[in-house]
Amino acid sequence: MNGKIITLNQFIIDRQNEFSYASGELSRLLSDIGTASKIINREVNKAGLVNILGDYGTINVQGEEVKKLDIYANEQLIAALSSGGECCVMGSEENDDIIEVNTEGVENAKYVVLFDPLDGSSNIDVNASIGTIFSIYRRISDGPKGGTVADCLQDGTEQVAAGYVIYGSSTILVYTTGHGVNGFTLDPSIGEFCLSHPDIQTPKDGKIYSINEGNYADFPEGVKQYISYCKEKNSAEARPYSSRYIGSFVADFHRNLLKGGIFIYPPTAKTPNGKLRLVYEVNPLAFLIEQAGGRATDGKQRVLEISPNALHMRVPLFIGSENMVKKAEAFFAVEAEKV
Ligand code: AHG
Ligand code: MN
Ligand code: MN
Repeated sequence: MNGKIITLNQFIIDRQNEFSYASGELSRLLSDIGTASKIINREVNKAGLVNILGDYGTINVQGEEVKKLDIYANEQLIAALSSGGECCVMGSEENDDIIEVNTEGVENAKYVVLFDPLDGSSNIDVNASIGTIFSIYRRISDGPKGGTVADCLQDGTEQVAAGYVIYGSSTILVYTTGHGVNGFTLDPSIGEFCLSHPDIQTPKDGKIYSINEGNYADFPEGVKQYISYCKEKNSAEARPYSSRYIGSFVADFHRNLLKGGIFIYPPTAKTPNGKLRLVYEVNPLAFLIEQAGGRATDGKQRVLEISPNALHMRVPLFIGSENMVKKAEAFFAVEAEKV
């Protein structure tokens, strides 16, 4: 290494020619998301001080209302994306309906942004990793105003960019525009995301499985059998695998992306469509994993090809190293046939 630092903004501009359609606007959008995430990061880092600085819902010493972090993150993203002129409509896991943009000139805004402002929020109070997930589409509606619900319900295959930021032991932003996956670590001393993980490829085989085994009794038979397979001793195949589950999808995904592994949120008796939301959580990470050489399905079908029928639609998910996901699907399919 010669120590040359490549910042996120520099990288985005250098790669701008990879997308022909409204490339300047997309670059600005990505950089706006980067800026919003730095503001969210600053607040996340103070999370443990909430009892000192003021409880959620109260007025702090500066006379400001203390907000729940997921609400704070949501507001930061909405503010950053409404004012830039590139985004015509947004959808957020925190909002029941689409978030309309009403700024002047919005009829010319070309992009749609969907996000989970803070994923894994149950981990905030225990200092474990949480993150922001985002997904960008082209606008398909035309009209004198901002975008519509239809703009937000496009198939995952139509994504032009997607990524996430993890507020962890360090803060990292990982994104793709359909030309590979790159990761940038925030250097707090200069306040810049710097290229730290160029061209991420996920291993074809991994040794980690991630699933909430507390729900085991409600899992489909094929998933139970796949878990037994993961635990079985087979030294030639490097089994048993390790079980790792943080309960923060972004953090579990990021570890498995770098090390190789599978993350499963299966259908259960209580939640027949699993828990994760297609447009806010699943599609962006499915786009990333495919770009990194991995695979994402609902057990039967490529998730990127599932047409969303509602903003908060949920789907089961098998995502990660290609060969591990294929193996899990095979278990899932055999048992599904028997019923
Ligand atoms: P969110 O905090 O955005 O509501 O998402 C939580 C999600 C996801 O991050 C994680 O993988 C999953 O919930 C964990 O669910 P279980 O507690 O059911 O395992
Ligand atoms: Mn989430
Ligand atoms: Mn969330």
